[in-house]
Amino acid sequence: MAVYEVKHPLIQHKLGLMRKVDLSTKQFRELASEVARLLTYEATKDLETETITVSGWAGPVSVQQIKGKKITVVPILRAGLGMMNGVLDMIPSARVSVVGLYRNEETLEPVAYYEKLATGMEERTALIIDPMLATGGSLLATIEMLKKAGCQRIKGLFLVAVPAGIERIVAAHPDVDIYVASIDERLNERGYILPGLGDAGDKIFGTK
Ligand code: URA
Repeated sequence: MAVYEVKHPLIQHKLGLMRKVDLSTKQFRELASEVARLLTYEATKDLETETITVSGWAGPVSVQQIKGKKITVVPILRAGLGMMNGVLDMIPSARVSVVGLYRNEETLEPVAYYEKLATGMEERTALIIDPMLATGGSLLATIEMLKKAGCQRIKGLFLVAVPAGIERIVAAHPDVDIYVASIDERLNERGYILPGLGDAGDKIFGTK
């Protein structure tokens, strides 16, 4: 397990813009996609490649291609959808496995209300996407769902996380890698990340 806070200047600049309170829905959405693209670049740097020969303009040429079964992107509804296009820009042939969870108000545990996973999960690398890693409850439930489906290689991509949420995942699933643009300070009493981005779902969908 590794936690990568990706300090690339482009990511930090774009995330800085996203923190501004007066951003339009369009701007927030575009920036979420752009940061997702850059996080995808980082999170896929250890994908295995193999050498193949293709016909080039001057004859046969050796090139690299990504080896083996491919990737599935796993947006957690609904805010995760705001990062999906950015990831798919980088990996256009990735399959999408959608997960929806709600919180049982009595047990406070996440309950799955939607699960449509790609086929062949045993052989795929799963990239879970959600803008905010707060308590880690939804992420835990999603990881468990993916592992139950046989998935053996899981990474999570987030715009902002808090240490407590990360620690919860590390303790339960030390094999899962986390890529995040910023590890912020803490959760407030209503479960929002500080300084954070506010309600990422509302900002992406233009709701209140
Ligand atoms: N979900 C959000 O949208 N924002 C937070 O700060 C925490 C969880």
